[in-house]
Amino acid sequence: MNHQGPYVREARPSDFDEISAFDARAFADDPEMNWFGGLKTAIADEAPTQKAGSLENLRLFLDTINRSVALVGGRVTVVAIPQESGPEKLVAFAAWVPPHKVIEGTLTSLRAKAHRSLFAWGFTMWWRASVIFKPTIGAIVKKALKAKSHQETDHYRLEITATDPEYQGKGYSSMLMKEGFERCGSKPITLEATTAHSRDVYAHQGFEIVESLTLGQGVVDSRGLNTKDKGAATGFPVCVMIKWPAST
Ligand SMILES: CC(C)(COP(=O)(O)OP(=O)(O)OC[C@H]1O[C@@H](n2cnc3c(N)ncnc32)[C@H](O)[C@@H]1OP(=O)(O)O)[C@@H](O)C(=O)NCCC(=O)NCCS
Repeated sequence: MNHQGPYVREARPSDFDEISAFDARAFADDPEMNWFGGLKTAIADEAPTQKAGSLENLRLFLDTINRSVALVGGRVTVVAIPQESGPEKLVAFAAWVPPHKVIEGTLTSLRAKAHRSLFAWGFTMWWRASVIFKPTIGAIVKKALKAKSHQETDHYRLEITATDPEYQGKGYSSMLMKEGFERCGSKPITLEATTAHSRDVYAHQGFEIVESLTLGQGVVDSRGLNTKDKGAATGFPVCVMIKWPAST
């Protein structure tokens, strides 16, 4: 089909590098990513000489997430904008994990080249992402699903989504969510928001906060950046959110 304007399609294997490049720019000052990376300075605030290397480290981490989602049978969707000549421009993406699947398996991580982030960010990243973050969020999600009589693993998970910063505010996230919600049918969709903006956008898109928590207390500030100032080490807020099917 010939598309005249922006449209949603599934990502092709050749799209993954382009996706992770704008994904890294979108998350360059995200508290969760700053915390995972053990960063002292947000990438967005770094000098140009340092910025490129730090963005590449973040890109590798995010690329592993997208590849993991594809490896477990999930869908990575993109908003593509056809160009007058040359390849389409990709401006937004969403990565959907299907029910009963997780992306944290050792084999999945190996196949998705997680070692690249271990080399770049070190053991702290692995500890925060795998030992603290995922089990904490997973337990909250299970409890919330059970409380509404849903099977604990029978939900779609919006693992990650972003719009290229230069293309935000133009409705591309809404296009992705509309397509994704139709595909998820009558099952709950779970996610977490780590900024006030994404929380408000998700709430607008029909997600409900089921629990708010604080991560990194005593270690990082409200932007997720490492600090030795105990007064500033408040940690950062995370909202676990669920979009319930109409019948719930
Ligand atoms: C969150 C993010 C994905 C939104 O993408 P976007 O393409 O700019 O969003 P859209 O322009 O499609 O707006 C989405 C909807 O939210 C609404 N919206 C925008 N700002 C809002 C706000 N502050 N409060 C409530 N609703 C808001 C829009 O009006 C739109 O709804 P509509 O289609 O009914 O008009 C984007 O800001 C982003 O990439 N942020 C960085 C990465 C991130 O935080 N990702 C999410 C965590 S995984």
